[in-house]
Amino acid sequence: MSSAAEPAGRGAIIVRRSRPGDAAAIHALAAREPSAASWPLTSYQQFVAAAGEGPQLRAMFVACPAMPGAEAGSIVGFLAASLVRGGPCEIENIAVMAAWRRAGVATRLLQSVSLWCCACVAGQPAELWLEVRSGNTTALAFYQRMGFAVTGQRTAYYPDGEDALLLAARLRS
Ligand SMILES: CC(C)(COP(=O)(O)OP(=O)(O)OC[C@H]1O[C@@H](n2cnc3c(N)ncnc32)[C@H](O)[C@@H]1OP(=O)(O)O)[C@@H](O)C(=O)NCCC(=O)NCCS
Repeated sequence: MSSAAEPAGRGAIIVRRSRPGDAAAIHALAAREPSAASWPLTSYQQFVAAAGEGPQLRAMFVACPAMPGAEAGSIVGFLAASLVRGGPCEIENIAVMAAWRRAGVATRLLQSVSLWCCACVAGQPAELWLEVRSGNTTALAFYQRMGFAVTGQRTAYYPDGEDALLLAARLRS
């Protein structure tokens, strides 16, 4: 699945499913974003490689510049999600490069994963879940704009003692 968007002033982007060769670029992007979940490169490689296997489905979507002359394979945002059959779809990690923020990139990534989730559950009710640091006001503003509601809290969930908020959004198939 791919879709095009045109962030003001930054050119068009394409959102597509990741390929095995994208893992290093996704890891490098995430490593520059302290608010993103910190995964080693092997986790990205495994996530991409195992996308369609087993009872837990996984999908990694990436956003890339679509302008002529853009560096081949350059990635400005990604979203990793998983779905256990019969359960909710969990957003496991998301980040957009700082220079591409507030341009609708994460919105397009979320739309793509929502379509994927609805296709996976084939007409059944679908829900997106995620955990976010209670102090990540940027991500909270984004998720609340996207229709997520806070459904719970995990006290001192992160190694540094910060709480996690649990958020959920219903999808209409
Ligand atoms: C959170 C994040 C993914 C949002 O990506 P993005 O591409 O900038 O988001 P969008 O442009 O699609 O934003 C859509 C809407 O969300 C809200 N929003 C996004 N960033 C916001 C901010 N910094 N402050 C307030 N609202 C914000 C706005 O309503 C925005 O619409 P608008 O620009 O028309 O006002 C990005 O800031 C990021 O990568 N943060 C670091 C990693 C991270 O925190 N990941 C989340 C871990 S759970």
